[in-house]
Amino acid sequence: MASTTAVLAVSGRGVVPLQCKPTTENYCSFKPAASSATSRDGLRLRSIINWRCRSSTLASGGGTMTVLVKREKKDGEEDEEEWMGHLAPEKLEVLAHLEPWAESHVLPLLRPAESSWEPSDLLPDPAALGEEGFSSACRELRARAAGVPDPVLVCLVGNMVTEEALPTYQSVPNRFEAVRDLTGADATAWARWIRGWSAEENRHGDVLSRYMYLSARVDMRQVDRTVHRLIAAGMAARAARSPYHGFIYVAFQERATAVAHGNTARLARAHGDGALARVCGAIEADEKRHEAAYTRIVGKLFEADPDAAVRALAYMMRRRITMPAALMTDGRDADLYAHYAAAAQQAGVYTASDYRAILEHFIRQWRVEELAAGLSGEGRRARDYVCGLPHKIRRMEEKAHDRAAQARKEPTAVPFSWIFDRTVSLVLP
Ligand SMILES: [Fe+2]
Ligand SMILES: [Fe+2]
Repeated sequence: MASTTAVLAVSGRGVVPLQCKPTTENYCSFKPAASSATSRDGLRLRSIINWRCRSSTLASGGGTMTVLVKREKKDGEEDEEEWMGHLAPEKLEVLAHLEPWAESHVLPLLRPAESSWEPSDLLPDPAALGEEGFSSACRELRARAAGVPDPVLVCLVGNMVTEEALPTYQSVPNRFEAVRDLTGADATAWARWIRGWSAEENRHGDVLSRYMYLSARVDMRQVDRTVHRLIAAGMAARAARSPYHGFIYVAFQERATAVAHGNTARLARAHGDGALARVCGAIEADEKRHEAAYTRIVGKLFEADPDAAVRALAYMMRRRITMPAALMTDGRDADLYAHYAAAAQQAGVYTASDYRAILEHFIRQWRVEELAAGLSGEGRRARDYVCGLPHKIRRMEEKAHDRAAQARKEPTAVPFSWIFDRTVSLVLP
């Protein structure tokens, strides 16, 4: 919790404890000067001008004085100081200078609508098939879908719910300084990328939702409500305005979703549902192109400002990359996201090992271990932290595995409203 203590220094009288306790009411009347400094004992010194204490006789006269304010940093305040440095003009100029490069190296990774797959290409189309043909195709789809086990189905629904919260994700890069789409129809390469990327993402939730509707295996009302709630709940983005941190997050997310959809495709095929495997495979291919785009962007940031880039990477990894749908809820299961994550771990759709492997991939991709020139002390510490992290995660995985083996935990039957409250047997952490 945040706490604040204040001491008052009046010229010629030394440091005198403030007689009044700062409250929201009187503390808000502080007007900090632009400059601040840190003394040897860690007190943060600020010049406070024209401060009037409402309860202290010592200061009741008001006027100009110097107040030394000892502040323990609020939760998240240290965080903010770290990432806000990435919004300095010289840091953001890097993005402005990269715009012509983005035009020639990032935008070509989008597929125009004319040559792109659409949900109607991958699912039975009543207009093309006619009444009988459509009914027959739907019967076949349902017969294939019947072979998909419930744990895989739960993962598929979780993936679909995640994709369907696209309005939230489009707003993510539109918070990044220097690249966001200010008017909603900007002509910059960055803005066109954000819109084109969102248009491609929009098909992912659509095609999965339509498949599920036709499969008759899930409670669509419960699934739709979960989507509704998730969009309303939003997501808590870290360092939300920094393009350095933000592009790293999105690169990680794109690779993670490619892994999840790719594994779901593999499982669907193994259980005899080739149509679902094609759907998930098409989404996986999109995610890989998106990952390539964001990886290139972050790679350029590493070239242009390696110190800022590696510090942003360490910042994000220290706080873990959390999934964008962590706030999902169906209104029944208070631990829905944890249960979905456990199902994904158990089914092999997305696991702790995948998380580590993604980090290892990006360390290689961005040549983090080789960084040396241009790094500050903080930058070197960030590099060393990031490069040592996969080893730490592996050790944690091994310990968790050993603990689980020793505890021989019994699986719990967890009901999922998405599949009409049928239960999935999960070993919960
Ligand atoms: Fe997607
Ligand atoms: Fe994507």
